[in-house]
Amino acid sequence: MQATDDLREEVRERYARSARAVTDQTGGCGCGSGSCCADGASDAAFGEALYDAEQRGELPDAAVLASLGCGNPTAVADLHEGETVLDLGSGGGIDVILSARRVGSTWLAYGLDMTDEMLALARKNAAEAGTTNAIFLKGIIEDVPLPAESVDVVISNCVINLSTDKSAVLGEIARVLKPGGRVGVSDVVAENRLSPAARAERGSYVGCIAGALSKREYEDGLAAAGFEGVEVTFTHEVADGMHGAIVKAARPVG
Ligand SMILES: C[S@@+](CC[C@H](N)C(=O)[O-])C[C@H]1O[C@@H](n2cnc3c(N)ncnc32)[C@H](O)[C@@H]1O
Repeated sequence: MQATDDLREEVRERYARSARAVTDQTGGCGCGSGSCCADGASDAAFGEALYDAEQRGELPDAAVLASLGCGNPTAVADLHEGETVLDLGSGGGIDVILSARRVGSTWLAYGLDMTDEMLALARKNAAEAGTTNAIFLKGIIEDVPLPAESVDVVISNCVINLSTDKSAVLGEIARVLKPGGRVGVSDVVAENRLSPAARAERGSYVGCIAGALSKREYEDGLAAAGFEGVEVTFTHEVADGMHGAIVKAARPVG
C-alpha cells in the first residue's frame, strides 16, 4: 500500500511540475513541446501535435501547451450534442474544453484530476476559452466522485497507464457510465510480447511507459469490467513495442 501511495505521489509531483512550467512559462518539462509524458520521446508522439490545426485554433495557447496526451480522445469518442462527458486525468483541460464545445452549452463536460496545479490551470484555460459548461473535480480516477450511471461518455488521454490500480479504474468507468454509454480513450499500450520488466526498460512510470498495460491485458480488463465491443488499436509507436493506442468499448444496454 505504501509503495502504491508513493508511486501515486511521484506521479502527482511530476504533473504538478508540468502544470507550473506552463503557468510560470519557465520552459520546464513539457512546456512548449508537450512531450513531458514520455521522457525523450519525439514531440510527434505526445502532446499538441496530435490535435489538428482547427482544434488547436479553438483553444487558449496555455491549454495547447499543457497538452500531455498520447492521442485525441475527443475524436475517438465521436461526441454529440446532448451528451455528458467525463475526462479522467484532465490535466490542463484541453479535452474537456473541446468536449464542452461538442456536447453543447447546456450539457456538461467533467474533468477529474488529482493534481491541484493542473486543476487550477484547467479552470483558467476553460475560463479563457469562454467555456461555461466544464466542471473540474478533484479526485482520483480509481474512486470517481460522481454517481453511478451519470455520464454518457468517458474519455481519457494518457492517464490510465499512470494508475496504480487499473482494474479499479475500469470498474469505475463501468459504474459511472449509463447503460449503453461508451468509453473512448487514448493511452500507451504495450505489445503482448513485452513483459512488465521489458516495458520498464523502455521508459519510466511517470513518463507513461513502465505502467502501460499490454493490448491483451487492456482487452481482458475491459471484458472483466463488463464492457462489450472492446477494441484496442495501435496508432503510433512511442518506444520499441510500445504504442499510442485508441481504446474503445461500450457498457451493455441491459
Ligand atoms: C500525462 S498527463 C495527461 C493530461 C491530459 N489528459 C492531457 O492529455 O493533456 C496525466 C494527468 O493525469 C493526472 N493523474 C495521473 N494519475 C491520476 C490518478 N490516479 N487520479 C487522478 N488524476 C491522475 C495527472 O495529475 C495529470 O494531470
